Amino acid sequence: MKDTGWVALSEFLRNPGAVGSAFPASMKMVDHLLGPLDWSKIALLIEYGPGSGRFTFEILRRMCPDARLMAIETGAEFARSLRSDCDDHRLIVVEGSAAQVNHHLGRHGLGQADFVVTGLPFSTLGPAEGDAIMRETALALKPSGQLAAYQMRTAIRPLIERHFSDLRDAYEWWNIPPCHLYWASGPNRNA
Ligand SMILES: C[S@@+](CC[C@H](N)C(=O)[O-])C[C@H]1O[C@@H](n2cnc3c(N)ncnc32)[C@H](O)[C@@H]1O
Repeated sequence: MKDTGWVALSEFLRNPGAVGSAFPASMKMVDHLLGPLDWSKIALLIEYGPGSGRFTFEILRRMCPDARLMAIETGAEFARSLRSDCDDHRLIVVEGSAAQVNHHLGRHGLGQADFVVTGLPFSTLGPAEGDAIMRETALALKPSGQLAAYQMRTAIRPLIERHFSDLRDAYEWWNIPPCHLYWASGPNRNA
């Protein structure tokens, strides 16, 4: 596992609202969120807000050899350090916002995704931006596509309920701070 702590702390101090936490995700939480995914069915996964890459490296470790991972990150330093730390040809690091996910997919010649994993701090994004990101997410996913999210607060829940038909949740204590976990399926393209 890469030591991703320093970049997470320094970027949090620079922009606490967008980053959300000074600590990278714990491996316990990474395992809990990614454990239920059926990797044999994932050809394209999108990660929003990879930050220092705690989920990114573990997603790459679990993904099929011919699958792709697009990681979309607004933080220039996070994006730069992820590119320099990882030479896996399956990873595409995009410096930009999850709100433009369909634009980023088109620019890289990619179609709809099988999975989105997000740790964006929806509680500080504001309801309009959060809703716009969730609407774009439902459009970016195949009808069989799914979403997995880890969140300190529950602001994301009504957004998932509006844009997905099925939702399952759990709680992970072994993380600083502890997090709500969500898995959603049935993206609604008309919400
Ligand atoms: C909670 S942190 C992710 C932590 C990461 N999983 C780790 O363990 O290091 C949230 C990340 O989302 C990024 N972010 C915030 N708003 C974003 C947006 N609209 N699009 C893409 N990334 C965004 C932040 O820069 C930050 O890296």
